[in-house]
Amino acid sequence: MHDLNRRYATKKYDPSKHLAPADWEMILTAGRLSPSSYGYEPWKFILLDQQARQDIQPFAWGAVASAKGADKLIAILVRKDVTYNSPYVQHLVRDIKHKEFSETDPRTLNFKNFQENDLQLKTDQDRYNWASRQAYLALANMLMAAARLDVDSCPIEGFNYAQMNQYLADRGVMDPAHWGVAVMASFGYRDQEITPKVRQPLTDIYEEM
Ligand SMILES: Cc1cc2nc3c(=O)[nH]c(=O)nc-3n(C[C@H](O)[C@H](O)[C@H](O)COP(=O)(O)O)c2cc1C
Repeated sequence: MHDLNRRYATKKYDPSKHLAPADWEMILTAGRLSPSSYGYEPWKFILLDQQARQDIQPFAWGAVASAKGADKLIAILVRKDVTYNSPYVQHLVRDIKHKEFSETDPRTLNFKNFQENDLQLKTDQDRYNWASRQAYLALANMLMAAARLDVDSCPIEGFNYAQMNQYLADRGVMDPAHWGVAVMASFGYRDQEITPKVRQPLTDIYEEM
């Protein structure tokens, strides 16, 4: 409960304070160890450099405070190309999970059916949306890991997605044919008091059938 109240969306950071490398690695690890559909990890975490912090400000209104003061500012990218027989899935199954891959394996066919029929994922945009939902779990875990470490943070989707995608593509960070930015986040140390939680009561948002 302490961590849940400790975490808040930081609006003002102290730019003179920096994360210990071990804390940053722990926060990244919280993202890396997050659950994903079929365990296919459709994400990548990009640490923005100082140039990017400057360049994105005109179209990343929700990140301006973070760009000015946070020690770390990241973009979480997601894959649009996670399909049952994509080179990426084959790589993950063979090289990471150390299993045989075959297009006719029951698990492969089950995944194909799950994506194409159950979830009705037909397009790159559909797969981007599906991967983004998973990226938000990684985001949440990173925010909670930060709170545990007494590191402040802010989730960020206050930016123009088309311009952010174009910028990251122009900087050579991602191939927009295969990737899109899902969400951003910042981490650092606050230069303000922690905002107490304002939320609806549980009785308004929880029902038993
Ligand atoms: C997906 C998401 C996107 C958000 N985008 C921004 C943002 O761009 N800039 C910002 O300052 N805060 C952003 N927030 C922070 C919310 O405004 C904040 O979480 C909410 O008001 C609740 O306050 P708390 O997190 O301090 O408890 C975002 C939060 C979420 C979950």
